[in-house]
Amino acid sequence: MSATTTNQNAAGGPTRLEPAVTQRTLKRMPRRLRGVLALDDFETAARRHLPRPIFGYVAGACETGASFAANRAAFAAHAFVPRVLRDVGDRSQRRTLMGRAYEHPFGISPMGLSALAAYDGDVVLAAAARAAGIPAVMSATSLTPLERVAAEGGSRWFQAYLPGDDARIEAMLARVAAAGFDTLVLTVDVPVSGNRENNVRNGFDAPLKPSLRLAWDGAMRPRWLVGTALRTLAARGMPHFENMDALRGPPIVSRNVVRSTKGRDRLAWRHAELMRARWKGSFVLKGVLAAEDARRAREIGCDGIVVSNHGGRQLDGAIAPLEALGPIVAEAGSMAVMLESGVRRGTDVLKALALGADFVFVGRPFLFAAAIAGEAGVRHAVDLLAEEIDRDMTLLGIRTLDELSSDLLRPERP
Ligand code: GLV
Repeated sequence: MSATTTNQNAAGGPTRLEPAVTQRTLKRMPRRLRGVLALDDFETAARRHLPRPIFGYVAGACETGASFAANRAAFAAHAFVPRVLRDVGDRSQRRTLMGRAYEHPFGISPMGLSALAAYDGDVVLAAAARAAGIPAVMSATSLTPLERVAAEGGSRWFQAYLPGDDARIEAMLARVAAAGFDTLVLTVDVPVSGNRENNVRNGFDAPLKPSLRLAWDGAMRPRWLVGTALRTLAARGMPHFENMDALRGPPIVSRNVVRSTKGRDRLAWRHAELMRARWKGSFVLKGVLAAEDARRAREIGCDGIVVSNHGGRQLDGAIAPLEALGPIVAEAGSMAVMLESGVRRGTDVLKALALGADFVFVGRPFLFAAAIAGEAGVRHAVDLLAEEIDRDMTLLGIRTLDELSSDLLRPERP
């Protein structure tokens, strides 16, 4: 269901907005989605469903969690000044991004190890996004061959982690293009992994070390154990890192995993220029927080940037993307400016757009949704966010996203 069509009111009668989950929709919904009324509820449900190490890997941030908290605080630090009596009966939240029209102004961020949290997670996320008319970005840290995610999930956005090595870059680009992807997202904020102490505390390690504790954690979550872990092993064998490089990577229980991330700290602007020259489709840098880097991205011919602090998972204390947005938009020229990190509500989406973002991406809640209810879960997450946006547009007094501007916001004083 798309909020655009549900709430359009061509007849001119009163538009009836109902909560996203009503008694009527409740009856049709899988039982485990019935208590999920907002994106944050997926996390509560996933905490009960997933083994602790896997839940912790997805939910966690790094070190003190300062950036993770700053992401939410930045949204709270802006208040709306709504307008009234504007006849907002016909609303649309469609958005065109880098030449493509999407049903909603949000997409699904790339997330590593999705197939460990949700059965066939990469394909599920891609297929649900395709059905909803939004983009989903496939992660390089995935356990599903990118060719299958393109063919079966219709994925068109691929996020690469690449080392500063021309030959490996060129081989990877050739593979991604041959699979039919048209948008390449290069993540630039992971020259080394963030300090994820929570992974150590929760017994999550890459490579995964088989241990009694891991077995116990799995046994405590029988629905995940049977429906995700054993089903995956039976259907596809031991998961491998499939998409770090042009060739298949090591299995998730292998020591070589550490080696395959080496060389990322040698990635430099000249490699981004090389990729821009080789890649025929849209080229996006993800993890930009400085206006100076946005300018550089524009100068080398990027089509877009994602303003992101990686969901608070990389440099602890890095600025919240919403706070960084203004000076970046001023440097962006015709590049698309996307934002992720901390977006959980329709109001967050509208605040980001009002401050100059063209589009936003949301990560963790969609993976939790896939974990607890597969494609139906992801569709429910899309519907919840879309309906919040539609309601919030109505309350704000706007009919299209183009009417958003910073005039509708006021910074809250602490
Ligand atoms: C991977 O990108 C992660 O943040 O874990």
